Amino acid sequence: MIDSGSIKKTFLDELKAAASLSELQQVRIKYIGKKGLLTAQLKSLSAMPAEEKRSFGKAVNELKGLVESELASKESALGNADLKKRLESEAIDVTLQGKYTPVGREHPINKVLREIEDIFVAMGFGIEDGPQVELDYYNFEALNMPRDHPARDMQDTFYITDDVILRTHTSPVQIRVMEKKKPPMRFIAPGKVYRCDADISHTPMFHQVEGLMVDADISFSGLKGVLETFIHRMFSPETPVRFRPSFFPFTEPSAEVDIGCIFCKGMGCKVCKGTGWLEILGAGMVNPRVFEMVGYNPEIYTGFAFGMGVERITMLKYGIDDIRLFFENDIRFLRQF
Ligand code: PHE
Repeated sequence: MIDSGSIKKTFLDELKAAASLSELQQVRIKYIGKKGLLTAQLKSLSAMPAEEKRSFGKAVNELKGLVESELASKESALGNADLKKRLESEAIDVTLQGKYTPVGREHPINKVLREIEDIFVAMGFGIEDGPQVELDYYNFEALNMPRDHPARDMQDTFYITDDVILRTHTSPVQIRVMEKKKPPMRFIAPGKVYRCDADISHTPMFHQVEGLMVDADISFSGLKGVLETFIHRMFSPETPVRFRPSFFPFTEPSAEVDIGCIFCKGMGCKVCKGTGWLEILGAGMVNPRVFEMVGYNPEIYTGFAFGMGVERITMLKYGIDDIRLFFENDIRFLRQF
Protein backbone atom coordinates (compact mmCIF):
# COMPACT_ATOMS: atom_id res chain seq x y z
CA MET A 1 0.00 0.00 0.00
CA ILE A 2 1.19 3.49 -0.76
CA ASP A 3 1.96 5.85 2.03
CA SER A 4 1.07 8.91 0.06
CA GLY A 5 1.74 11.19 3.02
CA SER A 6 5.43 10.24 3.35
CA ILE A 7 6.06 10.15 -0.43
CA LYS A 8 4.52 13.59 -0.66
CA LYS A 9 6.71 14.88 2.14
CA THR A 10 9.98 13.54 0.73
CA PHE A 11 8.97 14.79 -2.72
CA LEU A 12 8.31 18.28 -1.41
CA ASP A 13 11.59 18.31 0.52
CA GLU A 14 13.56 17.22 -2.50
CA LEU A 15 11.68 19.69 -4.70
CA LYS A 16 12.59 22.48 -2.35
CA ALA A 17 16.26 21.44 -2.33
CA ALA A 18 16.51 21.37 -6.15
CA ALA A 19 18.49 24.50 -7.01
CA SER A 20 18.85 24.08 -10.76
CA LEU A 21 16.94 22.76 -13.73
CA SER A 22 19.18 19.68 -13.87
CA GLU A 23 18.60 18.87 -10.18
CA LEU A 24 14.89 19.33 -10.80
CA GLN A 25 15.10 16.86 -13.67
CA GLN A 26 16.56 14.28 -11.26
CA VAL A 27 13.56 14.74 -8.96
CA ARG A 28 11.17 14.34 -11.88
CA ILE A 29 12.84 11.09 -12.94
CA LYS A 30 12.78 9.76 -9.42
CA TYR A 31 9.01 10.20 -9.05
CA ILE A 32 7.35 10.17 -12.43
CA GLY A 33 10.06 8.89 -14.78
CA LYS A 34 9.68 5.54 -16.58
CA LYS A 35 10.97 3.70 -13.51
CA GLY A 36 9.80 6.35 -11.07
CA LEU A 37 8.20 5.69 -7.69
CA LEU A 38 4.73 6.81 -8.73
CA THR A 39 4.95 5.17 -12.12
CA ALA A 40 5.67 1.83 -10.46
CA GLN A 41 2.69 2.24 -8.17
CA LEU A 42 0.39 3.06 -11.08
CA LYS A 43 1.62 -0.08 -12.81
CA SER A 44 0.86 -2.19 -9.76
CA LEU A 45 -2.81 -1.10 -9.95
CA SER A 46 -3.72 -3.71 -12.56
CA ALA A 47 -2.93 -6.54 -10.15
CA MET A 48 -5.22 -5.19 -7.38
CA PRO A 49 -8.70 -6.20 -6.44
CA ALA A 50 -11.41 -3.81 -7.66
CA GLU A 51 -12.35 -1.92 -4.48
CA GLU A 52 -8.72 -1.41 -3.45
CA LYS A 53 -7.97 -0.29 -6.96
CA ARG A 54 -10.42 2.59 -6.69
CA SER A 55 -9.18 4.23 -3.52
CA PHE A 56 -5.52 3.46 -4.17
CA GLY A 57 -5.75 4.63 -7.75
CA LYS A 58 -7.36 7.84 -6.68
CA ALA A 59 -4.66 8.55 -4.09
CA VAL A 60 -1.81 7.82 -6.52
CA ASN A 61 -3.37 9.88 -9.28
CA GLU A 62 -3.93 12.82 -6.96
CA LEU A 63 -0.34 12.60 -5.81
CA LYS A 64 0.86 12.36 -9.39
CA GLY A 65 -1.18 15.45 -10.27
CA LEU A 66 0.38 17.34 -7.40
CA VAL A 67 3.90 16.19 -8.34
CA GLU A 68 3.39 17.29 -11.93
CA SER A 69 2.04 20.72 -11.09
CA GLU A 70 4.69 21.34 -8.41
CA LEU A 71 7.43 20.32 -10.85
CA ALA A 72 5.98 22.62 -13.50
CA SER A 73 5.82 25.67 -11.26
CA LYS A 74 9.31 25.05 -9.82
CA GLU A 75 10.60 24.61 -13.35
CA SER A 76 9.28 27.95 -14.46
CA ALA A 77 10.61 29.61 -11.29
CA LEU A 78 14.08 28.16 -11.88
CA GLY A 79 13.85 29.09 -15.56
CA ASN A 80 13.04 32.68 -14.66
CA ALA A 81 15.92 32.80 -12.18
CA ASP A 82 18.26 31.42 -14.85
CA LEU A 83 17.09 33.97 -17.38
CA LYS A 84 17.48 36.76 -14.88
CA LYS A 85 21.01 35.64 -14.08
CA ARG A 86 21.90 35.43 -17.78
CA LEU A 87 20.42 38.83 -18.53
CA GLU A 88 22.40 40.31 -15.67
CA SER A 89 25.66 38.72 -16.72
CA GLU A 90 25.21 39.61 -20.36
CA ALA A 91 23.96 43.12 -19.71
CA ILE A 92 25.42 45.76 -22.05
CA ASP A 93 26.13 49.25 -20.78
CA VAL A 94 25.04 51.29 -23.77
CA THR A 95 26.53 54.41 -22.21
CA LEU A 96 30.09 53.01 -22.49
CA GLN A 97 32.35 54.43 -25.20
CA GLY A 98 32.53 52.31 -28.36
CA LYS A 99 35.74 50.72 -29.64
CA TYR A 100 37.56 53.19 -31.93
CA THR A 101 39.00 51.87 -35.18
CA PRO A 102 41.51 54.33 -36.60
CA VAL A 103 41.08 55.01 -40.30
CA GLY A 104 44.17 55.75 -42.39
CA ARG A 105 44.46 58.49 -44.93
CA GLU A 106 46.56 59.58 -47.86
CA HIS A 107 50.12 60.66 -47.06
CA PRO A 108 50.62 64.40 -47.75
CA ILE A 109 53.27 63.61 -50.37
CA ASN A 110 50.92 61.30 -52.26
CA LYS A 111 48.16 63.86 -51.93
CA VAL A 112 50.26 66.61 -53.52
CA LEU A 113 51.60 64.16 -56.13
CA ARG A 114 48.03 63.44 -57.15
CA GLU A 115 47.20 67.14 -57.34
CA ILE A 116 50.26 67.73 -59.55
CA GLU A 117 49.24 64.85 -61.81
CA ASP A 118 45.67 66.13 -62.06
CA ILE A 119 46.82 69.60 -63.11
CA PHE A 120 49.10 68.29 -65.87
CA VAL A 121 46.66 65.64 -67.06
CA ALA A 122 44.11 68.45 -67.46
CA MET A 123 46.64 70.16 -69.78
CA GLY A 124 46.90 67.02 -71.94
CA PHE A 125 50.05 65.49 -70.42
CA GLY A 126 50.36 61.72 -70.12
CA ILE A 127 52.05 59.94 -67.20
CA GLU A 128 55.20 57.85 -67.63
CA ASP A 129 57.30 55.73 -65.30
CA GLY A 130 60.90 54.55 -65.13
CA PRO A 131 63.19 52.41 -62.93
CA GLN A 132 64.60 53.71 -59.64
CA VAL A 133 67.67 51.51 -60.00
CA GLU A 134 69.08 53.09 -63.13
CA LEU A 135 72.02 52.84 -65.50
CA ASP A 136 74.65 55.55 -65.37
CA TYR A 137 73.93 55.98 -69.08
CA TYR A 138 70.32 57.16 -68.58
CA ASN A 139 70.91 59.12 -65.40
CA PHE A 140 73.96 61.04 -66.68
CA GLU A 141 75.54 60.12 -69.98
CA ALA A 142 72.50 60.49 -72.27
CA LEU A 143 71.60 63.71 -70.44
CA ASN A 144 74.82 65.28 -71.65
CA MET A 145 76.81 64.56 -68.49
CA PRO A 146 79.84 62.47 -69.49
CA ARG A 147 81.82 60.66 -66.81
CA ASP A 148 84.23 63.51 -66.17
CA HIS A 149 81.56 66.23 -66.30
CA PRO A 150 81.73 68.53 -63.27
CA ALA A 151 77.90 68.82 -63.17
CA ARG A 152 77.84 65.30 -61.70
CA ASP A 153 79.14 66.85 -58.49
CA MET A 154 75.77 68.60 -58.04
CA GLN A 155 74.19 65.24 -57.23
CA ASP A 156 75.48 62.97 -54.48
CA THR A 157 74.96 59.62 -56.16
CA PHE A 158 74.41 56.22 -54.52
CA TYR A 159 76.46 53.78 -56.60
CA ILE A 160 75.57 50.08 -56.84
CA THR A 161 78.30 49.30 -59.37
CA ASP A 162 80.28 51.62 -61.64
CA ASP A 163 77.42 51.51 -64.16
CA VAL A 164 74.38 50.96 -61.95
CA ILE A 165 73.12 53.63 -59.57
CA LEU A 166 69.99 54.81 -57.74
CA ARG A 167 68.59 57.52 -60.00
CA THR A 168 69.38 60.99 -58.65
CA HIS A 169 66.53 62.63 -60.58
CA THR A 170 63.56 61.69 -62.78
CA SER A 171 65.24 63.08 -65.94
CA PRO A 172 66.39 59.60 -67.13
CA VAL A 173 62.71 58.90 -67.87
CA GLN A 174 62.97 61.59 -70.60
CA ILE A 175 65.58 59.46 -72.38
CA ARG A 176 63.77 56.16 -71.90
CA VAL A 177 60.50 57.52 -73.32
CA MET A 178 62.15 59.33 -76.24
CA GLU A 179 64.03 56.12 -77.16
CA LYS A 180 60.70 54.30 -77.44
CA LYS A 181 58.35 56.92 -78.92
CA LYS A 182 58.35 59.53 -81.67
CA PRO A 183 57.26 63.17 -81.24
CA PRO A 184 54.89 64.86 -80.68
CA MET A 185 54.84 63.99 -76.99
CA ARG A 186 54.01 65.56 -73.66
CA PHE A 187 54.16 63.71 -70.39
CA ILE A 188 55.12 63.96 -66.74
CA ALA A 189 57.09 61.29 -64.85
CA PRO A 190 56.56 61.29 -61.07
CA GLY A 191 58.64 59.08 -58.79
CA LYS A 192 61.23 58.48 -56.11
CA VAL A 193 64.82 59.69 -56.46
CA TYR A 194 67.89 59.19 -54.24
CA ARG A 195 70.78 61.34 -53.12
CA CYS A 196 73.33 60.79 -50.35
CA ASP A 197 72.26 63.80 -48.33
CA ALA A 198 70.40 64.30 -45.04
CA ASP A 199 69.49 67.44 -43.07
CA ILE A 200 66.50 69.68 -42.32
CA SER A 201 65.75 70.12 -46.03
CA HIS A 202 67.24 66.91 -47.55
CA THR A 203 66.37 63.23 -47.18
CA PRO A 204 68.22 60.37 -48.96
CA MET A 205 64.98 59.52 -50.79
CA PHE A 206 62.56 62.14 -52.06
CA HIS A 207 60.09 62.64 -54.90
CA GLN A 208 60.31 64.52 -58.17
CA VAL A 209 57.98 65.14 -61.04
CA GLU A 210 59.66 65.39 -64.43
CA GLY A 211 57.98 67.02 -67.42
CA LEU A 212 58.77 66.83 -71.13
CA MET A 213 57.08 68.24 -74.21
CA VAL A 214 58.56 67.72 -77.70
CA ASP A 215 57.22 68.71 -81.12
CA ALA A 216 58.23 70.58 -84.26
CA ASP A 217 57.91 74.06 -82.79
CA ILE A 218 57.88 74.07 -79.01
CA SER A 219 59.02 77.40 -77.59
CA PHE A 220 60.21 78.85 -74.32
CA SER A 221 56.97 80.84 -74.09
CA GLY A 222 55.11 77.51 -74.15
CA LEU A 223 57.22 76.40 -71.18
CA LYS A 224 56.37 79.63 -69.35
CA GLY A 225 52.67 79.21 -70.07
CA VAL A 226 52.55 75.61 -68.86
CA LEU A 227 54.53 76.29 -65.67
CA GLU A 228 52.62 79.46 -64.82
CA THR A 229 49.33 77.64 -65.26
CA PHE A 230 50.62 74.84 -63.02
CA ILE A 231 51.80 77.22 -60.29
CA HIS A 232 48.60 79.24 -60.32
CA ARG A 233 46.51 76.10 -59.93
CA MET A 234 48.81 74.55 -57.30
CA PHE A 235 49.17 77.65 -55.12
CA SER A 236 46.86 80.54 -56.03
CA PRO A 237 46.07 82.50 -59.21
CA GLU A 238 47.79 85.57 -57.70
CA THR A 239 51.13 83.86 -57.00
CA PRO A 240 53.95 85.80 -58.75
CA VAL A 241 56.25 83.64 -60.94
CA ARG A 242 59.82 84.47 -61.95
CA PHE A 243 62.21 82.70 -64.37
CA ARG A 244 65.88 83.06 -63.44
CA PRO A 245 68.74 82.02 -65.80
CA SER A 246 70.47 78.86 -64.63
CA PHE A 247 72.39 75.85 -65.92
CA PHE A 248 71.58 72.19 -66.52
CA PRO A 249 73.67 70.10 -68.96
CA PHE A 250 70.52 68.69 -70.58
CA THR A 251 68.68 71.98 -71.21
CA GLU A 252 69.77 75.12 -73.06
CA PRO A 253 68.79 77.75 -72.16
CA SER A 254 68.02 76.71 -68.59
CA ALA A 255 66.07 78.44 -65.87
CA GLU A 256 65.18 78.14 -62.26
CA VAL A 257 61.62 79.08 -61.46
CA ASP A 258 60.72 81.04 -58.32
CA ILE A 259 57.38 81.92 -56.82
CA GLY A 260 56.71 84.96 -54.67
CA CYS A 261 57.24 83.92 -51.03
CA ILE A 262 53.90 82.70 -49.76
CA PHE A 263 54.88 83.30 -46.14
CA CYS A 264 55.77 87.00 -46.31
CA LYS A 265 54.02 87.83 -49.61
CA GLY A 266 57.33 89.00 -51.04
CA MET A 267 58.26 91.32 -48.15
CA GLY A 268 61.27 89.19 -47.17
CA CYS A 269 61.37 86.71 -44.29
CA LYS A 270 63.43 83.87 -42.80
CA VAL A 271 62.02 81.22 -45.18
CA CYS A 272 62.88 83.18 -48.37
CA LYS A 273 66.08 84.50 -46.76
CA GLY A 274 64.92 88.06 -47.22
CA THR A 275 64.63 87.78 -51.03
CA GLY A 276 60.82 87.58 -51.26
CA TRP A 277 61.20 84.60 -53.65
CA LEU A 278 61.20 80.79 -53.25
CA GLU A 279 62.79 78.45 -55.81
CA ILE A 280 60.45 75.62 -56.74
CA LEU A 281 61.71 73.98 -59.93
CA GLY A 282 64.31 73.67 -62.67
CA ALA A 283 63.46 73.88 -66.36
CA GLY A 284 64.71 74.70 -69.84
CA MET A 285 64.67 73.95 -73.55
CA VAL A 286 65.87 70.42 -74.33
CA ASN A 287 69.57 70.57 -75.29
CA PRO A 288 70.06 69.51 -78.96
CA ARG A 289 72.79 67.12 -77.72
CA VAL A 290 70.08 65.16 -75.83
CA PHE A 291 67.96 64.87 -79.00
CA GLU A 292 71.00 63.54 -80.84
CA MET A 293 71.50 60.88 -78.12
CA VAL A 294 67.98 59.52 -78.74
CA GLY A 295 68.11 59.89 -82.53
CA TYR A 296 65.76 62.86 -82.91
CA ASN A 297 66.75 65.47 -85.50
CA PRO A 298 67.40 68.73 -83.56
CA GLU A 299 66.86 70.68 -86.79
CA ILE A 300 63.23 69.54 -86.77
CA TYR A 301 62.32 69.12 -83.12
CA THR A 302 62.42 71.39 -80.11
CA GLY A 303 61.11 70.76 -76.64
CA PHE A 304 61.05 71.87 -73.06
CA ALA A 305 61.66 69.95 -69.85
CA PHE A 306 61.16 70.69 -66.20
CA GLY A 307 61.70 68.96 -62.88
CA MET A 308 60.29 69.73 -59.44
CA GLY A 309 60.71 68.38 -55.90
CA VAL A 310 57.41 67.20 -54.45
CA GLU A 311 58.53 67.50 -50.81
CA ARG A 312 59.56 71.10 -51.40
CA ILE A 313 56.22 72.00 -52.99
CA THR A 314 54.33 70.25 -50.17
CA MET A 315 56.39 72.11 -47.55
CA LEU A 316 55.64 75.45 -49.18
CA LYS A 317 51.98 74.68 -49.69
CA TYR A 318 51.41 73.65 -46.06
CA GLY A 319 54.07 75.73 -44.29
CA ILE A 320 56.13 72.72 -43.10
CA ASP A 321 59.66 73.64 -42.00
CA ASP A 322 61.35 70.22 -41.67
CA ILE A 323 61.38 67.67 -44.52
CA ARG A 324 62.04 64.80 -42.09
CA LEU A 325 58.47 65.09 -40.74
CA PHE A 326 57.23 63.39 -43.92
CA PHE A 327 59.07 60.18 -43.12
CA GLU A 328 58.84 59.91 -39.32
CA ASN A 329 55.22 58.73 -39.52
CA ASP A 330 54.15 60.63 -36.43
CA ILE A 331 50.40 60.17 -36.55
CA ARG A 332 49.80 63.65 -35.09
CA PHE A 333 51.57 65.14 -38.10
CA LEU A 334 49.95 62.89 -40.71
CA ARG A 335 46.44 63.49 -39.34
CA GLN A 336 46.54 67.15 -40.31
CA PHE A 337 46.20 66.60 -44.04
N1 PHE B 1 66.76 67.05 -63.10
C1 PHE B 1 66.99 68.36 -62.57
C2 PHE B 1 67.33 68.23 -61.07
O1 PHE B 1 67.07 67.23 -60.49
C3 PHE B 1 65.77 69.24 -62.73
C4 PHE B 1 65.47 69.55 -64.16
C5 PHE B 1 64.65 68.71 -64.90
C6 PHE B 1 65.99 70.70 -64.77
C7 PHE B 1 64.37 69.01 -66.22
C8 PHE B 1 65.72 70.99 -66.07
C9 PHE B 1 64.91 70.16 -66.79
O2 PHE B 1 67.85 69.15 -60.48
